[in-house]
Amino acid sequence: MPAAVVQPAATGSAAPNPPGRKRTAVLISGRGSNLAALLAAAADPAYPAEIVLVLANKGTAAGLATARAAGIPTAVVESRAFKGDRAGFEAAMQAELKRHDVELIALAGFMRVLTEDFVTRWFGRLVNIHPSLLPSFPGLETHERALAAGVRLHGCTVHLVSPGVDEGPILAQAAVPVLAGDDAESLAARVLAQEHRLYPAALAWLAAGRVRLVAGRAMVDADGAAGALVNPLANPLP
Ligand code: GRF
Repeated sequence: MPAAVVQPAATGSAAPNPPGRKRTAVLISGRGSNLAALLAAAADPAYPAEIVLVLANKGTAAGLATARAAGIPTAVVESRAFKGDRAGFEAAMQAELKRHDVELIALAGFMRVLTEDFVTRWFGRLVNIHPSLLPSFPGLETHERALAAGVRLHGCTVHLVSPGVDEGPILAQAAVPVLAGDDAESLAARVLAQEHRLYPAALAWLAAGRVRLVAGRAMVDADGAAGALVNPLANPLP
């Protein structure tokens, strides 16, 4: 296995930028709009991650066509063929990842829960984007649940993947307002526009060695990595 970008127990200063671009696989199950955003960013040779493989767990994933159009190698490991055998499914994925000398994995709408074994093997080199401000609303139907909860801010999170669904050290978040009249579709579209900005930035930080873990939290040494949002009410009413 290639050396880990992030040492799980690491403390101290950020690692220096590693030479070369990190060989990255994007894992998808469907539409692939985040994949398209990552491909667009990685089309710049200065971007620190190179997308060397797009792997889908369904041959019908629309994002495969996006990858092919960009000239990126694709692989399909049909999860249906491994019903009840998650270890077998992951072993087949691992073989593809190895075949392409993958160093980093970006999950982009990949709808399979990964085993603890797989996640542990890739810890620090495996990122996910989730359409909520974690730890609020892990799981599915995040926009519906945000609306039902009446939250005023919603958003998306890029995080390192730990065992546990939608868990792991947070690398980056973007917040959007929830507006009167929003439905799940309008709110999802507002969040998705931010996903497409956030994911390429967060993957670049990881690929460039700008992420370190301190006491289980991800510290990012990069401009724009801090949270930046203030309540617009300058003078709250008494
Ligand atoms: C995105 O909302 C992402 O946050 C979530 O699944 C969706 C995938 O969309 N994990 P796309 O396939 O990238 O368009």
